Amino acid sequence: MNIINFENLDSTNLWSKSNIEKIPDKSVVLTNIQTSGYGRFKRPWLNFGEGNLFVSFVLKPSEEKKEHASLTQYTAICISKVFDELGIKHTIKWPNDVLINGKKVCGILTEATYFGGKIEGLVIGIGMNLVGTKEQLKFVKSPATSLALEGFNVERDDILEKIYNEFFKNYDSILNLGFSFIKYDYKRKSHYKFGDKITFSKDLGKKENGIFRGFDDSGALIFENKNSEIEILNCGEIV
Ligand code: BTN
Repeated sequence: MNIINFENLDSTNLWSKSNIEKIPDKSVVLTNIQTSGYGRFKRPWLNFGEGNLFVSFVLKPSEEKKEHASLTQYTAICISKVFDELGIKHTIKWPNDVLINGKKVCGILTEATYFGGKIEGLVIGIGMNLVGTKEQLKFVKSPATSLALEGFNVERDDILEKIYNEFFKNYDSILNLGFSFIKYDYKRKSHYKFGDKITFSKDLGKKENGIFRGFDDSGALIFENKNSEIEILNCGEIV
């Protein structure tokens, strides 16, 4: 594993995107402290300091493929497998939050960079609360937890190595098969089960109540709205 290590960085995703041309394929950009981390919808990813995981995997695919869209959910599945191996009970909240006891412990953000209309790189950022305390987690808007708070003492570098190995074990399969490669595992680990009542917010817009009807073959969420119509949702979130 080629690690580019920092003591302090604004954001591993930002740094990776700005330096993409000099980063080799399958490198890992890691920082002890991350001062301006961000997640989906440009929400801040808070810095709970050393001991937590702030990392980006950098991929340099030769061409753009529709299967790349499944890499974030694939990463969630890789983390899920590592959690299983460590005996950590968890669920996955569509599309890519890993939860313990319903509280978020890990978030994933994939971004792409382009040069001359062609894909230059993909950056998969992973933030995991390993040692965040109750006082620190109070600053997160939605319910959040850390592995330490849930009773698991996990070394950052150990879990990173496990996630990295898991990720590259089946990397070719996910690129060839897309979401269908992980659909079974993803459904099994889903925080929401078929028929659950959910509230959905599209692009941070107004909230709608409806019913969770599973995932389609591309990993999109199937939502039955209040008029009993089926909607296939690619972005937004369950609130
Ligand atoms: C989310 O839950 O919305 C995604 C959070 C992703 C946070 C990680 S921390 C490492 C990497 N660098 C960032 O600025 N963001 C990702």
